[in-house]
Amino acid sequence: MTHNIMLVEGNRLMLEQLSNIISHTPEVKLVARYQDSNEALGQGIVFMPNIILLDADNQNIIHTLTEFHRVFPQADIICTGEKWHAESSSLYVNAGAKCFLVKPFSSEELMEAISSFSTGGSEADSKVLTFFSPKGKSGKTTLIANLAMAIAQRSGAAVGIIDADLQFGDMALFFNLKPQSTIVEAARDHDFLSPVSLGSYFIPVKNISVLCGTKDPSLIDKVSIPAFEALVKMSRTMFNYLLIDVPAGFNPTSIAAAEMSDVTYIVAMLNGGYELQHVQRALEIFKTWPDYKSRVKPILTRVEPCTINSQQQLSETIGYPVEGIIPNAYLDTSAAADSGQMSLEHNPNSPLSRRINYLAKKIIMNRQGEDDDF
Ligand SMILES: Nc1ncnc2c1ncn2[C@@H]1O[C@H](COP(=O)(O)OP(=O)(O)OP(=O)(O)O)[C@@H](O)[C@H]1O
Ligand SMILES: [Mg+2]
Repeated sequence: MTHNIMLVEGNRLMLEQLSNIISHTPEVKLVARYQDSNEALGQGIVFMPNIILLDADNQNIIHTLTEFHRVFPQADIICTGEKWHAESSSLYVNAGAKCFLVKPFSSEELMEAISSFSTGGSEADSKVLTFFSPKGKSGKTTLIANLAMAIAQRSGAAVGIIDADLQFGDMALFFNLKPQSTIVEAARDHDFLSPVSLGSYFIPVKNISVLCGTKDPSLIDKVSIPAFEALVKMSRTMFNYLLIDVPAGFNPTSIAAAEMSDVTYIVAMLNGGYELQHVQRALEIFKTWPDYKSRVKPILTRVEPCTINSQQQLSETIGYPVEGIIPNAYLDTSAAADSGQMSLEHNPNSPLSRRINYLAKKIIMNRQGEDDDF
């Protein structure tokens, strides 16, 4: 299908620049261009555009957008602006826009935007899941990587991982990735990014996408908390499920991620020490949230025997329902790593894979259940 574009841009120089970019973009045709949006509304219909690029840097944008949506019901509208804002982005989408591009965009970004909404992938209704652990070596990265794949496999939805374990994140090692772009570059560029261009900082791997962590612990300073928050807000419009790996313990990153999440999982590995007390102490802190009961869920790893009975006993011990238990899977995880696969692929029927699939099913049902309520 040819994409017939109508360009509406208030700034004359930008109108020229964008027209030039559109003319050099394959598979699209610039059929009309206007500096004045009222003229576009009055005259544009004869050109039968099926895509409208609409300048969002004007004060009455929501009213204008609604008018364009009414006059051109068959056209997909892409808002364009100098900067992406989470707050206005959702207003644009509610008023009928398909997505947002930062000006001036490149041909590649324009094509990516068009293909993302023509395949139905725009503005995901997302669940953000943060995996918090009181201490390190909780099995959290193993859990996130396998769980993300299981969710994608079962639901066919868009699943992303952000490795925000800023100093020692090892999601890239885990998936054997050598990323060109990481959370550091994304944080550096976040002011100039929109969900469409942020997509290229994520690395596609298997059936999911990963925004890798810093390459060097000293780079932690390059990712400020406001930049990280902006990245999470933007990413949640790109994925149906966004899983965030954070540094162990309470620190600015883990707190920011937890606060932005729909669910925070407290992950701890049973090693015969004080792990359950750590979970209890972390829970005490999360209990200051009024809605902690629905937003904070413990998952215990290396649970043997990994049975419903154990789960019940563990729930009683900590005095809070345990959401999931993962068996001792040391051999499983190392055999999978040796074969260059995730445990879920290496042995789909292992106790570990079954437990991960069960958790994935719960997460998917939870999201769909809530969707049905709307
Ligand atoms: N369910 C499990 N049973 C036994 N060993 C496990 C399990 N899950 C992970 N491991 C092993 O424990 C170690 C730590 O796992 P992982 O890196 O996933 O934990 P983490 O909490 O992300 O650690 P870090 O604090 O270093 O980020 C790895 O050697 C891994 O193979
Ligand atoms: Mg880790």
